[in-house]
Amino acid sequence: MLAGFQNVTFEFGARAIVEEATWHIQPGERIGLIGYNGTGKSTLLKLLVGEYQPSKGTVERSRTTSIGYLHQDLLSFDTNDSILQVAMSAFERVLQLEKEIEEIGKELEKTGDEKTLHEYTDRLHELETLGGYNIHHKTEEVLQGLGFENAALQRPYKEFSGGWRMRVLLAKMILQQPDLLLLDEPTNHLDLPSIEWLEKYLLHYQGSVVIVSHDKYFLNRMVTKIVEVYQQELHIYNGNYDYYEKEKAIRVEMQQKAYENQQDYIRQNERLVERFRAKASKAAMAQSIMKKLDKLDRIEDAEIERPNIRINFRVDKTPGRVLVELKHVSKAFGENVIIENSSVEIDRGDKIALIGANGKGKSTLLRIIAGVENFSKGERKWGHNVEESFYAQHQLEALNVNNTILDEMKECGSQMNELELRGLLGCFLFSGDDSDKKIKILSGGEKARVALAKTIVSKANFLMLDEPTNHLDMHSCDLLIDALTKYEGSMILVSHDRYFVSKTANKIWEIIDHEIKEFKGGYEEYVAWKERMAKQEKEQAAKDKAQGTRDKEQGGKNKKSEAGSQKPEVGKQKTEKPNESKGSNQASGIRHHSSPPINKDDKKELQKQQKIFQQLEERIATLNKKKSELEASLVDPAIYSDKTKFVQAESDYKKSGDELAKLNAEYEKVFETIMQLEAKQ
Ligand SMILES: Nc1ncnc2c1ncn2[C@@H]1O[C@H](COP(=O)(O)OP(=O)(O)OP(=O)(O)O)[C@@H](O)[C@H]1O
Ligand SMILES: [Mg+2]
Repeated sequence: MLAGFQNVTFEFGARAIVEEATWHIQPGERIGLIGYNGTGKSTLLKLLVGEYQPSKGTVERSRTTSIGYLHQDLLSFDTNDSILQVAMSAFERVLQLEKEIEEIGKELEKTGDEKTLHEYTDRLHELETLGGYNIHHKTEEVLQGLGFENAALQRPYKEFSGGWRMRVLLAKMILQQPDLLLLDEPTNHLDLPSIEWLEKYLLHYQGSVVIVSHDKYFLNRMVTKIVEVYQQELHIYNGNYDYYEKEKAIRVEMQQKAYENQQDYIRQNERLVERFRAKASKAAMAQSIMKKLDKLDRIEDAEIERPNIRINFRVDKTPGRVLVELKHVSKAFGENVIIENSSVEIDRGDKIALIGANGKGKSTLLRIIAGVENFSKGERKWGHNVEESFYAQHQLEALNVNNTILDEMKECGSQMNELELRGLLGCFLFSGDDSDKKIKILSGGEKARVALAKTIVSKANFLMLDEPTNHLDMHSCDLLIDALTKYEGSMILVSHDRYFVSKTANKIWEIIDHEIKEFKGGYEEYVAWKERMAKQEKEQAAKDKAQGTRDKEQGGKNKKSEAGSQKPEVGKQKTEKPNESKGSNQASGIRHHSSPPINKDDKKELQKQQKIFQQLEERIATLNKKKSELEASLVDPAIYSDKTKFVQAESDYKKSGDELAKLNAEYEKVFETIMQLEAKQ
């Protein structure tokens, strides 16, 4: 056993985190530590490393076990060293050896004596056994895996944001290869490619790993054991997250049955006690039954509902049609270009998800939109009556740790009085005395709830949310999705959580080649569209290749295909006024993209397609309306009580559905053609 708990009890004041918990971590295990926000996961890790002492029981750790512990408090670490140096400090002994070898080498040159030579070769030998010759390479590899570009490796650590610093420390930690890795929400600061890289890396990790995470996809792939903190106990499940969910349902059912049986038993006995008490001759018996009941090991009600946070975004005023507009905006940090001459607008009703890898400038773009980041060229226009609220990525670190929760709420300048604020905090599960808790001692999820409460207090009609699901447990995350779906305002959010994005957004933005590309649709449609585009691109490339070979054979001088440079772009289409074009409204132009592009024709074709697109949009809207009217008529008593009318309505309804499907298919095709044509412009 590497480490573990033996009958451990731990409490903060009167509040127990665990009671009599036992858990042994064996070599080679990959464990997911889970539980609702605030149940004590981070606290358990602190107990494991010895930062906290249990009030009862023992925390066991073998003396030889090395532990690496990644947690949010590490953010206070600061240095002028480059990030490569910081990560490489994982190889403390190797670095020391290198220094010694250099010194002894110099001495050896001078004296040439045998003792020094021995010392020298000993060191060289040790360096080799430690794999000291490729630490540079190894470090670079890990840093790259976590998303760093080569050029960034020499830059000072202190220049990086919190999220990136965490990555450097994570790199250092995994390079140290401790026997036991404790990772407290490691994916919070990672984007998808880095999460995938970390998954692969940890899957082959030699030591044991305990990961605290609220990401079920990550847990499913990563862990073979789940430890859940629930009702002050540790529940161990030998499987991944899916297994846990199934098994937990069974356990809850069993516990519930046992609980109900026990409750019946208790009630029966209590009735007996009541009856016997009245008779003097039976008083002793009543006494003994009562004693028996007292000694009974009570089963907890498994179905105690966890109180839900109640997120209810409210809107005070209705804004104008356009909330914010960026016109030809350029932004760069030194050499690092974020966007170049980009124009976009956010309209009333938009729920935009800004996605893509870290480092592309998503948070920067959000800050530009919010008006808290300067840019070199272009213009930002703010709409009429827009009341915004910004939930920034480092919101949690921006909370004043010495404030109480209530103070923090008071400071954000709402019109609410203390009583109202306490009421609102109650919706976020800070009841009674909880509002007087200091921010300092809050768990990650609790801090996120405070920050969310602050966002809500503003009654904004435009939300800008940067990674709002970080730290939230799955249950709270679902409630946030619910609230955002009901939200009547507009919003733009940054998130790496695919599920969250697919449930909340009606438009997708991505920064590609320093431009903001807009996709008018939800995440699932977006993914499907991307796949189709990739396939078409491949087919086109193959065709071009074949064409190229043919041309060569014929000695022809055909121009190079542009298929490889196709880019998704829908955002522009609304700014280009489609002109009247000749020709039919059929989607025959689709075939066009298989022949080599000629610019003038393309432009004409594009205009034609845009016209078709617009008409289709209108037809679909009308048909949709008709379809929902028919749907409503089906449940109208005047219709369904009359058989002929009903049959007619039903058939019309079906017909409109079929027609709609046909139009939608056509719509998609035209849409793709437009995008292909635009890519060639
Ligand atoms: N020093 C402290 N004094 C009193 N209470 C504390 C202290 N530190 C933490 N707590 C409380 O103990 C509970 C458990 O905190 P912990 O950080 O372990 O939760 P967690 O399971 O990691 O939650 P999350 O999922 O939100 O990260 C929280 O309610 C927190 O407010
Ligand atoms: Mg925690």
